[in-house]
Amino acid sequence: MKLDSQTCVVTGSSRGIGSGIATELGAHGANVVVNYRTSEREAYDVVEEIEADGGTAVAIQADVTEGDEVEAMADRVRNAFGSTDVLVNNAGITIDKKFEEMTRKEWDTVMDVNLGGVYNCTNAFFDDLKAADEGRLINISSVVGQQGNYGQANYAATKSGLFGFTRTIALELADSGTTANCVSPGFVQTDMLEKVPDRVQHKIRKRIPLDRFADIEDVAGLVRFLASEDSSYMTGQVFGVNGGMEW
Ligand SMILES: NC(=O)c1ccc[n+]([C@@H]2O[C@H](COP(=O)([O-])OP(=O)(O)OC[C@H]3O[C@@H](n4cnc5c(N)ncnc54)[C@H](OP(=O)(O)O)[C@@H]3O)[C@@H](O)[C@H]2O)c1
Repeated sequence: MKLDSQTCVVTGSSRGIGSGIATELGAHGANVVVNYRTSEREAYDVVEEIEADGGTAVAIQADVTEGDEVEAMADRVRNAFGSTDVLVNNAGITIDKKFEEMTRKEWDTVMDVNLGGVYNCTNAFFDDLKAADEGRLINISSVVGQQGNYGQANYAATKSGLFGFTRTIALELADSGTTANCVSPGFVQTDMLEKVPDRVQHKIRKRIPLDRFADIEDVAGLVRFLASEDSSYMTGQVFGVNGGMEW
C-alpha cells in the first residue's frame, strides 16, 4: 500500500482527522499538501511531523469557500509537485442549533464550507485527477449524514449531500479509471467533538456498539487504503468507520 510520489491534497489538514490523514499518507511515501484556513502553526507542525518521518509535505493556506484561493492553491501544488493524484475533501465545520433556532446564515455558512468547499476543490483538481494513472477523490462525510442528529440539520444535509455527489462523480470519472468514494466516520475524538456538551457525548457513546469514540487513526488507515492502488476496483461507495452504529 505504498503511495510513492503520489501527490495527495488533504483539505483542512492542520488539525483533527485531516492532520491524521496527512501524516498517514506522508508516512506511506506520498507528497502531501497540508491545506489550512487559519491554523498556520498547526499546519507547519503537521509538515514537520511528516518530514521528520522521512516524508515530503508543504503547507498551503486557502479557504475552501473562496474559489480563487483554491485555484491559487492548485497552481502552487502543480509548481511544487506536478499534477495531483489524490484529493481528500476533508475540511468541514459545524454550527449546531435546533432547526427552529437556526438562522439562514448559519445554514448557509455550513453549506458553503462543507459542500461549496467540495465544489471548489473538486473543480480545481478535477483535470489532474482525471489524468492521473491512479486518480482518487475521497470525500469525508459522517454517520450524521446517514442517521441525522439532533441539532445538526445543516451539517447532516451537507454530509448526506456528499453521498449523491460522490456516486455521481464516480460515474463521471469512471471512463478515466479514477475513483470517487466517501468515508463516513462515526464520532471521532477531535476539536469538533469537543464542542459537543459532555451529557450529549455520553448519550452518543451509549449508541456505539464498540463503546468508544473513533481515534483519528481509525479513519486515516481507511483513507490510506482508498488512496492506494489496492482500492482500484472500488468506486462510488460509502465506507462507514463508526464502531458498529446502524444506519
Ligand atoms: N470529529 C468527528 O466526530 C467527525 C465525525 C464524522 C465526520 N467528521 C468530518 O471530518 C472532517 C474533519 O473533522 P474534524 O473533526 O477533524 O474537524 P476539526 O478538528 O474541527 O478540524 C477541521 C479542519 O478543517 C479546516 N477548515 C475548516 N474550515 C475550513 C475552510 N473554510 N477552508 C480550509 N480549511 C478549513 C480547519 O482548518 P483551520 O483550523 O485552519 O480553520 C481544520 O484543519 C469534517 O469534514 C467533519 O465533518 C468529523
